[in-house]
Amino acid sequence: MEYYRLARSGQVPDGVVRRFFVQDDVEVAVSRWEGEVYVTTNYCTHLDCLLSSGKVIDDGLLCSCHNSVFDLETGEPITPPATKPIRVYPSKEENGEIFVGLEPDDLARERPMRRKTFEAKHQGS
Ligand code: FES
Repeated sequence: MEYYRLARSGQVPDGVVRRFFVQDDVEVAVSRWEGEVYVTTNYCTHLDCLLSSGKVIDDGLLCSCHNSVFDLETGEPITPPATKPIRVYPSKEENGEIFVGLEPDDLARERPMRRKTFEAKHQGS
């Protein structure tokens, strides 16, 4: 696993979730709660809504589409309708910067939105 820089610490204040990309290939949601930074996938396991459009609340990360809440440490859904966990990536904060830990396979994967766009363009061709 290798760590990649995501953002300056100040870009993710307490109680906020924001979207970032690693080398244009991996899309993540970076949340901060009570000073701790958490990095997760940016896609809800219910119907693929962007978690960065949601909110960080007391219990975890709230998806704005249908109000599922995910535990920020384990990724487990706390509130339905989602039943599957979201991926939680290793993260660290050093010298005012936020980093995410990725495996080589993570960088090879396409972002879900990019894949959908590709499939839509090539449907029926
Ligand atoms: S898409 Fe997130 S709860 Fe439905």
